[in-house]
Parts: sequence; structure tokens; C-alpha cells
Amino acid sequence: MKSIVIAIDGHSSTGKSTVAKKLASELGYKYVDTGAMYRAVTLFAMRNNWIVDGEVDDSKLIDHLPEIKINFEYNPKAGSNDVLLNGENVEKEIRTMEVSGNVSSVAKIDEVREKLVQIQKELGEEKGIVMDGRDIGSVVFPEAELKIFMTASANIRAQRRYNELKEKGEDINFEEVLKNVQHRDDIDSNRKNSPLIQSEDAIKIDNSNLSQEEQFAKILNLAKEKMISA
Ligand code: DC
Repeated sequence: MKSIVIAIDGHSSTGKSTVAKKLASELGYKYVDTGAMYRAVTLFAMRNNWIVDGEVDDSKLIDHLPEIKINFEYNPKAGSNDVLLNGENVEKEIRTMEVSGNVSSVAKIDEVREKLVQIQKELGEEKGIVMDGRDIGSVVFPEAELKIFMTASANIRAQRRYNELKEKGEDINFEEVLKNVQHRDDIDSNRKNSPLIQSEDAIKIDNSNLSQEEQFAKILNLAKEKMISA
């Protein structure tokens, strides 16, 4: 069986990371969560007070981009990679509502995308990788052997995200989470640079009414087919 590149794109909170992580582990592939990279850059900007009321000081962040080093570190407990920002494990901090509220504004900055896409391309040079994000099949790996586009209704996605955050002990209400999901959809889909789009050759999976197991079985089958025919 050939080593391939698997690109998993789609709307936020569709469970892309969960499927991608499981798929990588099943196939013995590397897994890269590109959303975590955009979140880490956002955290860097927030810590430097370059984001005020959702407004990013683009030029400050662009000037300081060379200072940002993003790496990954295997976390045996989670069975996946944690993201490191200049050597510091920030996996937990990048998942807060505050970062989620600001990340789309950072992800639309051309220079930020250029830097992160470059790193992502290097990570996938040897194939044998599952990468999830918004532009993996369209920009990072347009030649990926398997492209999946995941979606679900905004309400269902918000409910899943709400449950997740509640479990972590965050003090939030459902309306707030729904608004955040819709706001991110809007910015991610309408930005000029690399908007979230379904590539023509991507296979769409609407998981509004699919169990995680059904969805996983479907994607694993597709991957195996591609690994045989590639
Ligand atoms: O997948 P996520 O929710 O952790 O992504 C966080 C944000 O980063 C999301 O608003 C869109 C952006 N993003 C992006 O623009 N391109 C990617 N490849 C991955 C994420």
C-alpha cells in the first residue's frame, strides 16, 4: 500500500480533529492539526496585547512573525501532538473561547497564512500524513490523494462545542457558542485569502446525523481504497 496525503477540511466544530487523529493512529500516519497553529499565533498576539476588542494590529503581528516558532510534541496521554509556541506547550490555552473568538481575524492575514502554509507543506513532504484545517485540499496539498470536506448544521456543531467546553469547566452559555460558530463560518468562508471552500475533488461528509463510528468507518474505507489505487 502506498503512503498518501489525506486532507480533511470543513467547518469549525465538525469533529475534523477527532476523525483525523483516529485515522492517523489507525494508519500509522502523522497527524497535524493546522487550526492549532493558527490558534498558537493568535495566543502570541493576545499575549502581546495586539488584539483589542477583536481588532488585530496586523502590522505589529506581521513585523514579529519571524519570532514565532511553532512545533509539535507527542502527548502519550492524548495519543496525539500538542502544539508548542516558542517551545512552550500551549495546547490547553489555545482552546479557550477567548482564543476561538479572535482566531479567524488572525487567520485572514496573508503573511500569517504564508508562514503557516510553508510549515505545513514541509511537514507533509514525506506523505503518510493526515492534516486537518480549512485550506488543506485547496491550497496546502492540492494534489492530496484523498480530500474530505466535513460539515454539519451550525446548531449541531454549537451543541457539540458547548458540551465539550462545559465538560472542561468553562462558564459559557449556548447562545454565545452558537454565535461564535456562526461568526467563524462567516469569516472563514468569506475571507479573500484561501477561504473555506469544498475542492471539486473533495468528498463531502455531512455528519449531522452520523455517529462518530459510522463516519470513521466511511473515511477509513475511502483512505484504504486510495492507498491501494494510488
Ligand atoms: O479548526 P479550528 O477551529 O481549531 O481552527 C481555528 C481557526 O483557524 C478557524 O477559525 C479557521 C482557522 N483555520 C484556517 O484558516 N486555516 C486552517 N488550515 C485551519 C484553521
